[in-house]
Amino acid sequence: MNINYQEKIPNNVDLAHDRRLQRALEHWQPHFIDWWKDLGPEGFMNSDVYLRTAVSVDAKGWAQFGKVKMPDYRWGIFLADRDPNRKIGFGDKMGEAAWQEVPGEFRAPLRNLIVTQGDTEPASVEQQRMLGQTCPSLYDLRNLFQVNVEEGRHLWAMVYLLHAYFGRDGREEAEELLHRHSGDPDNPRILGTFNEPIDDWLSFFMFTYFTDRDGKFQLKSLAESAFDPLARTCQFMLTEEAHHMFVGETGIGRIVKRTLDLMKQTGTDDPETIRKAGGIDLPLLQRYINFWFSSCLDLFGSESSSNAATYFANGLKGRADEMKYEDHVCIDTAYDLEVPDGMGTRIDEIPTRNAMNEIVRSAYVEDCKIGLIRWNRLIKKAGYDVELTLPSTHFRRNIGPWSTVKTTPEGKIISEEEFNAKVASWLPTEGDRAYVKSLMVQVTEPGKMAGWIAPPDRGINSQAVDYEYVSIH
Ligand SMILES: [Fe+2]
Ligand SMILES: [Fe+2]
Repeated sequence: MNINYQEKIPNNVDLAHDRRLQRALEHWQPHFIDWWKDLGPEGFMNSDVYLRTAVSVDAKGWAQFGKVKMPDYRWGIFLADRDPNRKIGFGDKMGEAAWQEVPGEFRAPLRNLIVTQGDTEPASVEQQRMLGQTCPSLYDLRNLFQVNVEEGRHLWAMVYLLHAYFGRDGREEAEELLHRHSGDPDNPRILGTFNEPIDDWLSFFMFTYFTDRDGKFQLKSLAESAFDPLARTCQFMLTEEAHHMFVGETGIGRIVKRTLDLMKQTGTDDPETIRKAGGIDLPLLQRYINFWFSSCLDLFGSESSSNAATYFANGLKGRADEMKYEDHVCIDTAYDLEVPDGMGTRIDEIPTRNAMNEIVRSAYVEDCKIGLIRWNRLIKKAGYDVELTLPSTHFRRNIGPWSTVKTTPEGKIISEEEFNAKVASWLPTEGDRAYVKSLMVQVTEPGKMAGWIAPPDRGINSQAVDYEYVSIH
């Protein structure tokens, strides 16, 4: 099979002049397309979708917009520009030149980091593959597909690194990335949460708000890596990731807006009345926030982690925005970690390097607040005295010291009995999920919206909201 690399795979890594890499990608590319057709968005392979395609890393004009059938999307390979003087920015090797090749001693851990990141990209496409059947509008359908093709490109980004820098085992890992499947009992995706289907749009918006934001922080941590090609790849992926979080933030914001309209129309905030009017009541939204936020906190790993310490010491993975910290070596310093102690808490002093997961998780929590501030502003402006909140980082944890106790969403340790008695007001119930599912009806008339969500303020790339973002054939 012949691929015109400049045409078919837009890239800035001079693919056309690397025969070895070309052969590796020639072998992998048709497997990727088969995977996309089998496990990508169900039912829209012939539709023309208004998509953005990355064509360079130029900050001013890195993307092109146009209608394209998804299997013909030009999944490109882009690395942020190389700084020839780049030095390692943290850990024991701080100040040494960044690596352009993989040092033999770190081959295995670097490969694992890349494979774990790479595995989440196609996993999310698989998780979301049925959502097109119930899209609330063509605008949203297009955004879903934009996120999906870009997660596909992020897979390409990781596969490029595996092929270009890890030889035979890299090629084998690249194949495995297409063989593991989300939810496959025999060959599941690596991280547990990426095996749960995302089958309603409220969950999709929560995923793009909270889980893609975890992705942002993982990418930012890898963008600090001493392994320069990995750092540069992740830097560029962050450009696309921003849109995924925009989809989540504005999606939830539009739900809030619609619910507020219904509260005004019906003159009450009573959940039953809002549901009869076809909206998503704010308490239900809060329970979904509690669920998704707490799940995503676990993705950062345990509060105290010797793995994280080793990654940091060796320069493989730093903290997101390493620049903003004062100390980049963090040896002989301690971090105060609050842990449960009976029905109370105590402070454990742990080496700062072991606290890297917790430090990055704390930065993530701060970033998560941005959307809540905007949503709460809408609620306040509409004259209601309700606030959406993030639960405590101690609530409903499944890993780390807080996984051993039950707490309220505010973080107060309580008994298992009390937790069970109150959980229905804190986390989505069967009834909530069934109700959300009942709202999921496909709307495909240009400009029309499902009844549970407000239209967006503006369209994509200066197009009108009622532009035909997807031409379904
Ligand atoms: Fe991604
Ligand atoms: Fe993403």
